[in-house]
Amino acid sequence: MRDTAPQPPLDHIPPGIRCAQDYEALAPRFIAAPRLAYIAGGSGDDATVAANRRAFAAWSVWPRLLRDVRQGHTRLALGGQALAHPLLLAPVAYQQLVHPAGELESARAAQALGAGLVLSTLASRRLEDVAALAGPLRWFQLYFQPVRAATLDLVQRAEAAGYGAIVVTLDASIQVASRAAQAAGFQMPADCRSVNLAAYAQASARALAEGDSRVFQGLMADAPRLDDLDWLLGATRLPVWVKGVLHPDDARMLRARGVHGLVVSNHGGRGLDGAPASLAALPAVRAAVGPGYPLLLDGGVRSGGDAFKALALGADAVLLGRLQVYALAVAGALGVAHMLKLLREELEATMALAGCATLADIGPGCLSPALPGAPGESAPCC
Ligand code: FNR
Repeated sequence: MRDTAPQPPLDHIPPGIRCAQDYEALAPRFIAAPRLAYIAGGSGDDATVAANRRAFAAWSVWPRLLRDVRQGHTRLALGGQALAHPLLLAPVAYQQLVHPAGELESARAAQALGAGLVLSTLASRRLEDVAALAGPLRWFQLYFQPVRAATLDLVQRAEAAGYGAIVVTLDASIQVASRAAQAAGFQMPADCRSVNLAAYAQASARALAEGDSRVFQGLMADAPRLDDLDWLLGATRLPVWVKGVLHPDDARMLRARGVHGLVVSNHGGRGLDGAPASLAALPAVRAAVGPGYPLLLDGGVRSGGDAFKALALGADAVLLGRLQVYALAVAGALGVAHMLKLLREELEATMALAGCATLADIGPGCLSPALPGAPGESAPCC
């Protein structure tokens, strides 16, 4: 399969885009098939990717009548930062795969739309350059490096560049592309690299003794453990969030350990295939950490209605992974900004029709389990 982009990113918003999810429908025109398979895919049989989407379709939103929402807004405070809306850009590695300027464009969009941005350790652009363009809520997503000095250096660079939090991802110690993505033959191109790791020596493959497991003694040898998290909490002055939490016991333990907030996530289905949908796990995590403790959610959010359901089930805000990449591929910063604008309007319209003037009005009582015959997954509108 050819790995060259069918069409370069546009310098304008293409006609016919009517909802945020339309960017997903357009992506195949702008992303070569093997790259698209790598981005869209998860791991294994993509069971968790599918579950993430199904979980949203399992809920309906109650329309409510005669409510005065003329003072309505979507404002919130997150990590001490005032935000105009609860839509953040998720950390997504190697954005140069879909746009020559990669993460710089996403940062411009975040700035323009007042959206928070979480930059991946595996970004294809320098974290300092991205920080200079992003809006006030910019956080750094950390992958522990095999050598602690490298992890510390990354954290200190993020602090110096003005990132406001460290979001450490703990659910992806093993990542193997799904069977479908492997069949598409994706190979990381030579010109797309994790530039922020270039200065650090990379671990060479561990020599296994006879009888050793390639998984336990190999791939998992450098995976983070509890003492790594405790070390990180003491090594940075920034608040530390953990991304990749699904089990309520983990959530309780992380809160008790001093973690500032959690991202309920299954890595967009790219970690453990068969893990529950993020949305399905959210209510138990909220119950475990209690009200008021910061919780974000990602995984399968494709519309403002989806964002509403996540907020109703206990999230303070949502992160957008693949939608961000699709919009970036279609029209760079303009596309990402437009996608965010559409999503925000979709959220506002859902709030208004559900009788919610503010995010504080959104709660579990706004939802009903989807009744037989209720609309299923929303199809893209173009
Ligand atoms: C990711 N994700 C991710 N997460 C992370 O913590 N660090 C990373 O570097 C990446 N890289 C990455 C690359 C690609 C191509 C994808 C699709 C995803 C996971 C991401 O932050 C988020 O959890 C999911 O993408 C959310 O699901 P949706 O919105 O893509 O359905």
